[in-house]
Amino acid sequence: MTSRTKIQSLLRHHPGEYFSGEKISHLLNISRAAVWKQVKALREEGYDIEAKHSLGYRLLGVPDLLVGAEIEAELNCRVIGSRVVSFAETDSTNVQARRLAEAGGTEGMVVIADQQSAGRGRLGRQWESPSGINLYCSIVLRPQIPLQQAPQLTFLSAVAVVETLQEVYQLPTEVKWPNDVMVNGAKISGLLNEMSAETEQIHFVILGVGVNLNMTESQFPDSLNYPATSVLLETGQPVDRLDFTCHFLQRLDLYYTEFLCEGFSPIRRRWESYCGLINAQVEVDQGINRCCGTVVGLDLDGALRLQLDSGKIERILAGDVRPIEK
Ligand code: BTN
Repeated sequence: MTSRTKIQSLLRHHPGEYFSGEKISHLLNISRAAVWKQVKALREEGYDIEAKHSLGYRLLGVPDLLVGAEIEAELNCRVIGSRVVSFAETDSTNVQARRLAEAGGTEGMVVIADQQSAGRGRLGRQWESPSGINLYCSIVLRPQIPLQQAPQLTFLSAVAVVETLQEVYQLPTEVKWPNDVMVNGAKISGLLNEMSAETEQIHFVILGVGVNLNMTESQFPDSLNYPATSVLLETGQPVDRLDFTCHFLQRLDLYYTEFLCEGFSPIRRRWESYCGLINAQVEVDQGINRCCGTVVGLDLDGALRLQLDSGKIERILAGDVRPIEK
């Protein structure tokens, strides 16, 4: 961690508290001139740091930036966030993460961008990714699991997003098969997991996560054919993106390490408990095919288990699920 990140982290963790130049220089083992130089650099990055003659430095405001080193400094994870790489703009964090993984990027590496010029969704759809307001991130994982279990990781990331939104923002959040996170019937987050594998061996999995945090009504594209929302729209309060990102990555780490030890069952149970459509009548649109039935649960490979009117259990592997209005 650089001295700049250490000073930023120290002031951030003690809101309202003054730290003298002497104390910081002592804590970080750097000169007072170096402390001043780093405070000046932080101010240039947008940190509002007050300097009082007899008291020292105090943090009054932080810029809403997602900086890799700052995220790394906040995390206390076992696997996730071993390295956090941030971009002001990129095409797609999933594409960047794949490039880095192919170049040897290690398990747990996180790629974050402030803005994506070619954010991707499922089925080649576009993911609207304006600058400075949401979370767009991709995580490189290298699990030693059979190929057919890789889709389980989508459900793992969905559970981590749901619990972050529930616990930090008290939002009534649900999952929707296969890769959506919903609040009050509108989509707040989408997940796009991609993989590199050969015969039976996974090289890496990229967990792509987009969460609408500070998006306003007018920032959603008119072409969107489903209801969408953001934390700001639901709570009326702007979200500190660094805070959200760290809570989410911390929870993802918890569940990923649990998954490596205990397998999919605990995640599957949690996912089913957050699925508002369990026991509901739904229609599944599979392009040329359509079928109706009652949602029973999630299969081990991530397929949706649907009970048809005939009583037969059908395994749904792809499609858009819609509740049937009664
Ligand atoms: C969907 O709901 O269809 C999935 C959307 C996934 C969007 C995220 S944003 C970060 C990562 N980079 C991408 O290009 N896509 C995913």
